[in-house]
Amino acid sequence: MKFSIFQQPLNSWNGKSLIYGIFETDIKKQLETIDHIINSEDILIKIKNKKFNGEKGQNITLEFINQKIESISFVGLGDKKIFDKQNLKIVVSKAIRSISGLDKVVGILLPWNDLELNTIYLVAESIRLSIFKDNRFNSKRSDKEFLEKIEFLNLNDQSIISFRETEELCSGVELARELVKAPPNILTPSEMAKVASNIAHEQGLSIRVLEKKDCEELGMGAYLAVSRGSDLPPKFIHLTYKSNDPIKQKIALVGKGLTFDSGGYNLKVGASQIEMMKYDMGGSAAVLGTARAIGALKPEGLEVHFIVAACENMINGSAIHPGDVVKASNGKTIEINNTDAEGRLTLADALTYASDLKPDCIIDLATLTGACVVALGNDVAGLWSNNEELTKALINSAKDSGEGLWPMPLQKSYKEGLKSHIADMKNTGPRAGGSITAALFLEEFFDPSIKWAHIDIAGTCWTEKDKDINPSGATGYGVKTLVKFLKNSCD
Ligand code: BES
Ligand code: MG
Ligand code: ZN
Repeated sequence: MKFSIFQQPLNSWNGKSLIYGIFETDIKKQLETIDHIINSEDILIKIKNKKFNGEKGQNITLEFINQKIESISFVGLGDKKIFDKQNLKIVVSKAIRSISGLDKVVGILLPWNDLELNTIYLVAESIRLSIFKDNRFNSKRSDKEFLEKIEFLNLNDQSIISFRETEELCSGVELARELVKAPPNILTPSEMAKVASNIAHEQGLSIRVLEKKDCEELGMGAYLAVSRGSDLPPKFIHLTYKSNDPIKQKIALVGKGLTFDSGGYNLKVGASQIEMMKYDMGGSAAVLGTARAIGALKPEGLEVHFIVAACENMINGSAIHPGDVVKASNGKTIEINNTDAEGRLTLADALTYASDLKPDCIIDLATLTGACVVALGNDVAGLWSNNEELTKALINSAKDSGEGLWPMPLQKSYKEGLKSHIADMKNTGPRAGGSITAALFLEEFFDPSIKWAHIDIAGTCWTEKDKDINPSGATGYGVKTLVKFLKNSCD
C-alpha cells in the first residue's frame, strides 16, 4: 500500500471513498470544504439523522448514488481545543477497516491544511497496520490487495513529503507479526536464521550465525541445555548494523527466541496454553523487525547488534532434568529447578555475548513470565532497568509509539529467592514476584557498568481482541518503540 499527498484541488480528485474527520463544533462550516463535490446541506441533514455530531470516536458511513464520490466515512475528532492524537489514530483505523476491501484508492480529508507532519505519519502508520492481513496459512487465500493507495487531501500548504520512513517501520512491524504468527513446525530455529540472513542481504547488514559447536566453544551451557531436548539444531543469530559515519552509540538488542516452549519436563499443563507457545519468540521477532527497519532507514551515528539465541524447549531422552546444574558462558552455575523457566537460560548466554561486545547499552525483549501478564495484562509490557535515563528514554519512545510500557522494580531483597544449595543460583524463584526474580536473574549475566533494560512482553506480543488499531493475533509489539528509541539515541 502506498501513501501520497494529493496536491491538486479537491474537486479534481477522482477517488470514490473518503474518510472525513470532523470536529464537534461548527460542523456546517467544516462541511463547506466538500461543497463543490457534493451538496453539504444534504450531508448535514443525513449525518444529523444518523446522530453523528463529531463527538470523539464516532464513526458513520454514508453511501451516495449517482455521485462522483460513492461513500464518505465520517470520523468524530471531538473538541478542537483538546485534540487527541490517539483518538485520531483509532477512529481513522476503525473507518478504514469498515471500508477497506471495497476500493483501491481511499482519500483522507482532515480539518486542517497545515496538519503536522508527525500526525500525517501517525495516521498513515495506523491505517497500514490496522488492515494488515496475514493469510499465508490459508489454502483459500486471496492475494488480491484491494486497498492500493491512500491519498491525503486538502493539504495544500504541505510540500511533498516522503512516506518512506513510515513504510519501512510498518514493514518491520509486519515482519514481527508474521514471525510470531508462524506455527512452530514452520518457524524453526533454522528458519529464523534464514529470515535473519535475508534481512542481512536485503538491507546490507552483516550476519553471523553460530552453530551448536560454536556455542559449545564459547561455553554457552545454559542456552545449549535448553535446546538439548529438541531434535532441531539451535541457531545463535547475530546481525550487525553499522553506519558509515563516526559511531556515537553502540547498542545491543537481545530477543528471546524460543520457537516453541513446551515447558520441558515441567511440562505446560492445564491452563498454561501450551498450544500458544509458538509466540515464545516474540522478543526475537521484535528484534528482527527492528533490524529490518533500521537496516532500511540507516540512521547515522549508530552501531546496533541484534542478537537471538534461537532454539526449542522440548522433551526427549537428552532433555534437561529438573534439578540439573549447568554453567553459563560467564562461568556462573545454575540449578535448573524448573525447566519451564527456559527463556532466562537462553538469555543468560545471549546477554553474556552482548556484554562482551562492550556496547553502551543492552536492551532485551522476552515473553518471559506469566507473572508479568498477571501484573500488567495484555496492553502493557513491564520494564526493568539499572539506569534511570534509559528507563525514561524507553518509556517516552513507547508513549510516542502508542505501545504500553511501565517501569517495574529490580527489588534486590528478592534475590534471596534465587539462592541455590548446590549452584551459584537457581533459575526459578517463588511464585510471588515471579517477573521480578526473572529480571534479577538476567542481571547476573552482563557487565553491571553497562546500561541495561529488560522488557517482558509475555502479555503484549499477542492479542485475542480485535482492536481497531491492530487485528487480533500477533501485535508486532516492540518494533515501533525500539526504532523510535534507536533513532532518538543518536540525535
Ligand atoms: N514462555 C513462558 C512465559 C509466558 C507465559 C509467555 C504466558 C507468554 C504467556 C516462560 O518460558 C515460562 O514458562 N515462564 C514460567 C516461569 C516459571 C516456571 C517461573 C511462567 O511464567 O509460568
Ligand atoms: Mg517456559
Ligand atoms: Zn518460554
